[in-house]
Amino acid sequence: MALASVLDSGTLRSGLSGVAGRDFLSLGDFTREEILSLLALALHLKKLGRRGEPTLNGRSLAMIFQKPSTRTRVSFEVAMTQLGGTALFLSGHDLQLGRGETVSDTARVLSRYVDAVMIRTFAQSEVEEFAAAASVPVINGLTDQDHPCQVLADLLTILEVRSQGLKGLKVAFIGDGNNMAQAWLLAAAALGFALDVAAPPGYQPDAAVVRRAGDLAAVSGASLRLLADPEEAARNADVLYTDVWASMGQEAEAAKRRRDLAAYQVDERLAGLAAPDHIFLHCLPAHRGEEVSPAVIDGPHSLVFQQAENRLHAQKAVLLALLGDPGGLAGAWLDAGPED
Ligand code: CP
Ligand code: NVA
Repeated sequence: MALASVLDSGTLRSGLSGVAGRDFLSLGDFTREEILSLLALALHLKKLGRRGEPTLNGRSLAMIFQKPSTRTRVSFEVAMTQLGGTALFLSGHDLQLGRGETVSDTARVLSRYVDAVMIRTFAQSEVEEFAAAASVPVINGLTDQDHPCQVLADLLTILEVRSQGLKGLKVAFIGDGNNMAQAWLLAAAALGFALDVAAPPGYQPDAAVVRRAGDLAAVSGASLRLLADPEEAARNADVLYTDVWASMGQEAEAAKRRRDLAAYQVDERLAGLAAPDHIFLHCLPAHRGEEVSPAVIDGPHSLVFQQAENRLHAQKAVLLALLGDPGGLAGAWLDAGPED
């Protein structure tokens, strides 16, 4: 997808400068132009690979993890390394935060050492409290409410394979109305595409997030539907998306969730209802035989590993933009007249 065909370099420049110095807590906080500018920069950085200048020379990212991670941890660390900076892995258990030091004191102290902080934790309010006290950009690396870095990489994957870009896009999220479903609601609402979330009663997305997405959709024109029927959601979808039925922190409920969500597995029958050229996405980690059948996740429509790789490229764009492009890499790209 040629993003330059929908975004001229003036729009890209203002989109990226609109992001500089801000926190990245939810895609719902950003305009369509800002999100598309980040995606265009991510496509450019992916093309550059390791040939880019070490544009974040001397810059540091602190990464606080209160939950496990494979992709988020490694992709942020490699992103900083490839851009010339450093990432520090900080386990919540090892920080004084785990012994009662306040979130805001931790934020104020870390702001004096590092240039940005990424946090993976439980409550969205904790990330917000941290961001309010920090004087450097704060990135949401997943909360119980949202996962904006993941949905940005997902959008990048869609743009790579869909010649018409986001125009006419219909995404179906099937399963638990969890942080990923909510991140999708906010992304669709901000960008103005169609999203169906199919989840059983009791597993629908959080009402406050649905209200916020509804307010944004009223402006963007996004069509958002909360359904109970997975078939209705899957029908003619361009993207089938699912995620685990028991998220981090919900392990004790896993057996009940397996029972309650059994009818929501994305399998060959459900995938047969989607558009013939649909793609299957999953943020991973996946549980084959639960939320997705092996034939779907390992089948020809699945792009889950390209999607996982795109975490790296999308996050490089986020880091460059939030830190104000200190080495001028994005600026040089814009000056040259972006080809992507
Ligand atoms: N998708 C994702 O965020 O993966 P990790 O939990 O491994 O970081
Ligand atoms: N919903 C999952 C996403 C993991 C990337 C969780 O929160 O555990």
